[in-house]
Amino acid sequence: MALHEHSPKRDDTEDRLHFRPQFADELDDPAIPKLRLAAAGMPAHTAYQIVHDELMLDGNARLNLATFVTTWMEPQAEHLMAECSPKNMIDKDEYPQTAELERRCVNMLAHLWNAPSKATATGCSTTGSSEACMLGGLALKWRWRARRESAGLSADRPNLVMGSNVQVCWEKFCRYFDVEARLVPVGPKVAHLTAKAATAHCDDNTIGVVAVLGSTYDGAYEPVEEIAHALDILAARKGGPDISIHVDGASGAMIAPFIDEELTWDFRLPRVQSINTSGHKYGLVYPGVGWIVWRDAKALPKDLVFSVAYLGGEMPTFALNFSRPGAQVAGQYFNFLRLGFDGYRAVQQACRDTGEWLAAEIERIGPYELVSPAGGIPAFAFRTKERPGTPFDVYDVSEALRAKGWLVPAYPMPDGMQDVSVLRIVVRNGFSRDLAGLFVRDLAAVTDNLAGQAGRSAHGAGTTRASAARRTHTGRTGFHH
Ligand SMILES: Cc1ncc(COP(=O)(O)O)c(C=O)c1O
Repeated sequence: MALHEHSPKRDDTEDRLHFRPQFADELDDPAIPKLRLAAAGMPAHTAYQIVHDELMLDGNARLNLATFVTTWMEPQAEHLMAECSPKNMIDKDEYPQTAELERRCVNMLAHLWNAPSKATATGCSTTGSSEACMLGGLALKWRWRARRESAGLSADRPNLVMGSNVQVCWEKFCRYFDVEARLVPVGPKVAHLTAKAATAHCDDNTIGVVAVLGSTYDGAYEPVEEIAHALDILAARKGGPDISIHVDGASGAMIAPFIDEELTWDFRLPRVQSINTSGHKYGLVYPGVGWIVWRDAKALPKDLVFSVAYLGGEMPTFALNFSRPGAQVAGQYFNFLRLGFDGYRAVQQACRDTGEWLAAEIERIGPYELVSPAGGIPAFAFRTKERPGTPFDVYDVSEALRAKGWLVPAYPMPDGMQDVSVLRIVVRNGFSRDLAGLFVRDLAAVTDNLAGQAGRSAHGAGTTRASAARRTHTGRTGFHH
């Protein structure tokens, strides 16, 4: 999470919470420090009101088209999750039924991803895909190291091959666990990893290749089957390295099984050793849950596994953290029961239909063109057309949409295509066709307005807000993936 600095000296009025008159007479002090614990507490309803009021400044989660994370669940799911939040997932002995729900979810996912019936696929819940990717990466590293050591070879320079479009969690994995991040530049034709580029970057020290099902940048699926095939050819060469694939299906592993059934990307490919997904993305659960499944016992080295007490015996666990609320796993199981396969298919198809409709409408507005291929997860990127006479850029559009409540990130594409900046929209459950229509209306208005401002300034002496904004964008840090 964000790193915050301690401000030991400051305690001026800026750093105090001031109470409204309705609450002030319940308190000894009409203003209390923000950065230190106040000497005394306050009534619960006052504390609630203060926190509630302050959080009004956050954006509206439902209008946040930047996030892949679920922003709407049914009231029954919310109720169930509130009931389960005091339960700690790690206390398997105390909450055996929560552990049982986790076991059922892992089984459902292994089945959905075509885990081989003759092997014992194994998996667990995590806090999200980031933790799941760390676990997947660790298993790859451990297996590679064991192979190298048993062959009497050095194991001190591991690398992981992946497109430069990977989510930041993979760079974290590499930095935290001492693995060279071999980031393959993308472009110019596609903004993701290709089979040819992947194999060209592999060698004996490659612990694995990460294939992303649903790129964070533009929603595209990477060609897992082609990558697997190219790695088969590499392994068949004399002395060629035999390299496993981890599929980062943070979004796509909960989309493809339902609406792209013809696509082969999962455990049907023997080279795919592990798959992760975010339960809190297209698994349709509020933030805080991810999943990872390994195809068989061999894929998950035993010395990464720790045991905790469970019903008088022991239960194997693999996690980076210890305590975690049980609510999200209960929410995931609720969704699996509530929707079933057909229900998930209907939800994901509705998202894709809305996305395709929205993409077409955005192109119709005029100055925009899509940079994402069709298909993939229901997220797409678009940019302003490169033609003289488009007097604003994607950063201006992002900023102007914010004033209407819509949060749509603008950012440069990854290494290899960095000169292209785009806006990205993630269509999620709850972003209905009706809301999409309202968004198109607002985007059209914003576009007219930006074009008008630029036109007016071309006749006057001043700078447009758009061009001023463009200047302030130089040096921006951009959107974090
Ligand atoms: C492809 C991909 N991998 C990993 C992650 C990290 O997922 P999480 O936010 O669940 O930790 C994301 C998040 O957007 C993603 O898109």
